[in-house]
Amino acid sequence: MSALTVKNLHVKIGESHILHGVTFDVPAHKVTALLGRNGVGKSTTLKSIMGLYQGTGSIELDGLQILGTPTYKIAQAGVAYVPEDREIFSTLSVRENLTLASRNKNNGDAYKNIFELFPELDTRAAQLAGSLSGGQQQMVAIARALLNENEILLVDEPTKGLAPKLVTEVANALVKVAHKTTMLLVEQNLALVKRIAENVIVMDQGRVVFQGGPENLNDPAWVHQMLGVSGGHK
Ligand SMILES: Nc1ncnc2c1ncn2[C@@H]1O[C@H](COP(=O)(O)OP(=O)(O)O)[C@@H](O)[C@H]1O
Ligand SMILES: [Mg+2]
Repeated sequence: MSALTVKNLHVKIGESHILHGVTFDVPAHKVTALLGRNGVGKSTTLKSIMGLYQGTGSIELDGLQILGTPTYKIAQAGVAYVPEDREIFSTLSVRENLTLASRNKNNGDAYKNIFELFPELDTRAAQLAGSLSGGQQQMVAIARALLNENEILLVDEPTKGLAPKLVTEVANALVKVAHKTTMLLVEQNLALVKRIAENVIVMDQGRVVFQGGPENLNDPAWVHQMLGVSGGHK
């Protein structure tokens, strides 16, 4: 069953036609990786699902049309979004960041789950988010998305710009999160994608050029052709 179905999505930003009929399915309870070279439209796709860009076509969440719906309603319908630049409040504490994100103020269980997933956020609850490491800030951004009941989690390049040790930390966290939710993950780190993704979508120039299983990621020639990187060995 599909949690999210995107059909023939066209998005223009100003005069630029960025998405040219993007079509894909995100199966429920699985991790789907959204891959492609820089600038092909991955972030634009996630933002359009979130209603941050308007487009034409169809975006269905569990069969409910969400295209054209305001962002706050899309969030209420169960789409959680961890943006590329994290957008946490650096002058607020970890706990304050989480409290602000929570739609249900009596969700002690949700906090318990999050602190089980990210024990470090519990011990650092009073610390200003801006003083955390990049990896810890990413965990705050993911935890914030997980505080509410969601149908799907959209995560945009969570390991981007992180030191290798922190990449491993965030990767381990995402593996744990993967057991709890449906995820659409944009990620350049192919080792992480292979570890976590059960389904792969490749975009090129505003279109989907592949959707299928992750096996091809083990074929260096395929990876080179699709993603323009010499991957497949890691
Ligand atoms: N706000 C914007 N205004 C104009 N062009 C944009 C904007 N955001 C993205 N683009 C363009 O849209 C294309 C896709 O960008 P993006 O979705 O960020 O790619 P990706 O996430 O795959 O790297 C790029 O050519 C980029 O320059
Ligand atoms: Mg991007």
